[in-house]
Amino acid sequence: MNRDDASAGPVHPPRDARPDAGPGEDSRPPIIELRGIRKVYNAGTPVATEVLHGIDLSLAAGEFAALIGPSGSGKSTLLNIIGLLEPASAGSYRLAGRSTGELDDAALTAARLSTLGFVFQFHHLLPAFSALDNVAMPALLRDGHLGTAARERALQLLADVGLAQAAARKPSVLSGGMQQRVAIARALMLEPPLVLADEPTGNLDTASASAVFDLLRRFNREAGTAFLIVTHDPRIADRCDRVIELIDGRLAPARESDSA
Ligand SMILES: Nc1ncnc2c1ncn2[C@@H]1O[C@H](COP(=O)(O)OP(=O)(O)OP(=O)(O)O)[C@@H](O)[C@H]1O
Ligand SMILES: [Mg+2]
Repeated sequence: MNRDDASAGPVHPPRDARPDAGPGEDSRPPIIELRGIRKVYNAGTPVATEVLHGIDLSLAAGEFAALIGPSGSGKSTLLNIIGLLEPASAGSYRLAGRSTGELDDAALTAARLSTLGFVFQFHHLLPAFSALDNVAMPALLRDGHLGTAARERALQLLADVGLAQAAARKPSVLSGGMQQRVAIARALMLEPPLVLADEPTGNLDTASASAVFDLLRRFNREAGTAFLIVTHDPRIADRCDRVIELIDGRLAPARESDSA
């Protein structure tokens, strides 16, 4: 497994990462550290617009956080930078203890595969492939083939999200909530220490949204996976341990939810 030692997996419960830390301190090593992150779209043109104005943000291994803010405040832009899907215009970003500034395309792809899982509002499952092959796809991309162990893990994940019977089915015959559960299983396929979710329940009815949220929470508790979840839904944000708020491209002062 091509993972960083600092990553939180099932064998390293998140709160025990550094037992020597003092009381009240967060003992967990940071999974992301952003300093002075700025983003300018259309730089160097007359329509250049800065949409992130210097973001300082750390997320600890195993943390379960919501990212909220008005439409256009920069949530998806920030998530895409954290996900190494687009570069920042200025500032520094360390992912799993490693500076990302100098990584070339191949290294960015490798870092994405080994460190990050993604869940989007629209699941982006591949329609021609079965649920099982969709879940296993990250292993295929990383290894170039699909081994028995990867197939077994994909099946186990499908069982974990309650879809063992749907393994052979194509996404088109699954409900929206089921498709999103397949996408969650796919995001967890390579045991990433961090999953980024952009409005994962935005397209679902209330019952499916709640079931999807419960799954994210369960993987967080059981596998120690950190989550950063963009949401417009206050019921989702209130159930996270930490709420990070963006307003016009700046972080609002920190506030903690009741469950923290
Ligand atoms: N590729 C782009 N080129 C130019 N401007 C962009 C681009 N992507 C986003 N923006 C602008 O950046 C700002 C932040 O957009 P972003 O999509 O990050 O907001 P958001 O908080 O995710 O909004 P929403 O809640 O509607 O999804 C907006 O003003 C948007 O118009
Ligand atoms: Mg968005």
